[in-house]
Amino acid sequence: MAPTSTTTAIPNNSIESLISSRASNRSFKHFAANTSDGAPKNFKPHPKPLALSFGRPNAQFFPVKKITVQVDEFPFQDSIFKNEEIDEVKEIVIERLPEEDEYSLGASEAFQYGDVKGLPAFQKFLRSFVERIHTPAYEDWAVHASNGAGEGLNKVVDALIDPGDIVLIEEFTFSPFGNNVRNVGGVIVPTKIKFEKNIKGDISADVDVDYLANLLENWDEVRPEHKGNKPKAFYTIPTSQNPTGFTQTPETRRRIYELASIHNFVIIEDDPYGYLTLPSFAEPSLENLKDHDLTVDDYINHSLLPSYLKYDTEGRVVRVETFSKVFAPGLRLGFLVGHKKIIDVITKYSSIVTRSPSGAAQLLLLNIIEQKYGGIDGWLAWILKMRLAYAHRRNVLISSIVNSEAYEKEYIKIISCDAGMFASLLVNFPEGTDNISKLTLLNYKLLQHGVAVVLGYKMAIDEKFSEASSNFLRLSYACLDSDVELREAGTRLAAAVKEFFENGLEY
Ligand SMILES: Cc1ncc(COP(=O)(O)O)c(C=O)c1O
Repeated sequence: MAPTSTTTAIPNNSIESLISSRASNRSFKHFAANTSDGAPKNFKPHPKPLALSFGRPNAQFFPVKKITVQVDEFPFQDSIFKNEEIDEVKEIVIERLPEEDEYSLGASEAFQYGDVKGLPAFQKFLRSFVERIHTPAYEDWAVHASNGAGEGLNKVVDALIDPGDIVLIEEFTFSPFGNNVRNVGGVIVPTKIKFEKNIKGDISADVDVDYLANLLENWDEVRPEHKGNKPKAFYTIPTSQNPTGFTQTPETRRRIYELASIHNFVIIEDDPYGYLTLPSFAEPSLENLKDHDLTVDDYINHSLLPSYLKYDTEGRVVRVETFSKVFAPGLRLGFLVGHKKIIDVITKYSSIVTRSPSGAAQLLLLNIIEQKYGGIDGWLAWILKMRLAYAHRRNVLISSIVNSEAYEKEYIKIISCDAGMFASLLVNFPEGTDNISKLTLLNYKLLQHGVAVVLGYKMAIDEKFSEASSNFLRLSYACLDSDVELREAGTRLAAAVKEFFENGLEY
């Protein structure tokens, strides 16, 4: 969808103007590359040269002959999905040289040095995956495999940000990204998140787009210290924002893209939780869990939120994806999607710093997707099973909180959590409370009761800027082992909060 108002095109129609001088001036030379510069006029290369030039070990030096893998049918298949019929375990066999198949990848190729953008079969899979779900609204886009979102983000920052460039960031965020920005001399300016009471009496949140629009329109007055230096990029976590857990509405996304277009900045979309869209909270019930199942088409058309790529007519969005939350973090695999010219400078940087992501990781993932799931839609069907498991775990945790006295007495409120793995809670301190010192004190009570959470202000970009809204706790329902533990964690948390409030906000 194109922006609705008149937009200023990227100056001189140039994506290059968005790229940092560090990245555009970077050179890369390889000692084994032969060029035809300065070749004699009548030079004619042999059509089949024998390579004595590379230090690539022949595949027969690789000790792995065959890999067999057994894959679960369901996450938590012995508990949440214990009532499901499980098909006989089918072994996946990864050969040195596979049969020709759509995304076939064999060990000989994957264990070899490979393309820095990802092995050809993996790149092909990534392109088809993006096309199935989030096709950009322009032609000239490319993908680049990364070693996970964290590493991908670092490369995006290198590609865009020069010393002194401003990066806008949601006031509470995945704070390690700030380290990437500071590392290249970028300057961070926080933008507001709007927290509002909803009809259920809980809290809905979203990016405060009016604040953002005003900030950009009146930049020199609102940020006189950065006069004349308007933002180069906006970093955003659009679905299940880390740490607050909210999901931007499509209208928010459309308006932010429009602002990017008008004020000429890049949107860095970090979306590790985007695939985990969840049904609304309901009391947990394993019997009814499957009522919330979706077909892959319904999931794509009605449940997934649009990526910023869908609004991008100009190539000013870089989408950062990862397999950490939908497969496994230890795989260290993810990918970037963006304009070809931005991906090209990232590729040059990859050639210098990381080379390609692990071939073994690409081999394992791609063969499981191809052989076990039968391609993209089967892979999405696995994600839908994860979605149900996360929905159940979220319901167990939230149920133990909403059925507590602390919740009944409104000491805590739930911040909307319809996606991902975070359920954040607003701690309803009376007006005028020093949020930071009381949250710190409350944390000792939580630890005494035996529950560990993340304190809102610890994920603030600028503690002072966000002091008034940092009265929340980030709870993750991703890591505990069982429903029993999740329920117990919620019960402990609620008991600690009640004790703290009823002791006059003292330990
Ligand atoms: C918003 C966000 N971005 C990036 C990452 C890092 O992901 P990866 O494991 O792919 O590096 C995380 C991990 O928690 C995250 O929450």
